[in-house]
Amino acid sequence: MADFSRKPTLIGELVELRPASKDDAASLRALMVDPEVSRLTGSVHSDDESSHEGWTVEQLEEVYEGWAAADDRIVWVIVERATGEVVGEAVLNELDPGNRSCGFRIWISGASGRGLGTEATRLAVFHGFDDQRLNRIELEVYAFNPRARHVYEKVGFAHEGTRREALLYNGEGVDAHIMSMLRSEWRPASG
Ligand SMILES: CC(C)(COP(=O)(O)OP(=O)(O)OC[C@H]1O[C@@H](n2cnc3c(N)ncnc32)[C@H](O)[C@@H]1OP(=O)(O)O)[C@@H](O)C(=O)NCCC(=O)NCCS
Repeated sequence: MADFSRKPTLIGELVELRPASKDDAASLRALMVDPEVSRLTGSVHSDDESSHEGWTVEQLEEVYEGWAAADDRIVWVIVERATGEVVGEAVLNELDPGNRSCGFRIWISGASGRGLGTEATRLAVFHGFDDQRLNRIELEVYAFNPRARHVYEKVGFAHEGTRREALLYNGEGVDAHIMSMLRSEWRPASG
């Protein structure tokens, strides 16, 4: 039975996924104000807004404290093993125990293109299918983010539909692609 109140540390070759806590709020906030992360995760609606400071450390401490105790999501900080630095966040969320399904999201700041996101995605997916016995993991990726889509396809996610112009950015409609991976498609070696 899937149980997201169980939040283990996952260790790969390049990264470690460690359950996020209140104490991670300050370092995550410093990373999440990255304009590229804000844009690609759909957190802002224009280039002007992308320098917006967002939530305070105090607000985020409260949020992460709640998430650390949540039974419907696992929030991990992504730690680059070579440096010991926190570089982003990976999340399994919206657990639906009856359907054995959940969502996935990830962001990395200042450390893209080194293979960390691919490995972090594989580790989270492995945990979802192997340890939590899930049947389906779903995510959303914007059409202006081919890098993320490439990573998701490489790990084994398939495109299954599009929420047309789900995001308005700089006044333009941006499609949001829904991707998913099923347990029957998952191969531990690749996913
Ligand atoms: C998406 C993200 C998690 C990927 O992590 P990463 O560590 O940068 O990715 P990796 O280094 O493991 O792999 C990047 C891959 O994308 C490819 N890539 C880079 N730019 C690309 C582009 N414009 N189009 C297609 N593929 C691209 C690289 O060649 C590499 O693939 P390869 O290993 O087959 O050569 C990370 O870049 C990120 O968080 N970006 C900002 C926020 C974000 O986009 N979050 C996801 C929202 S859905």
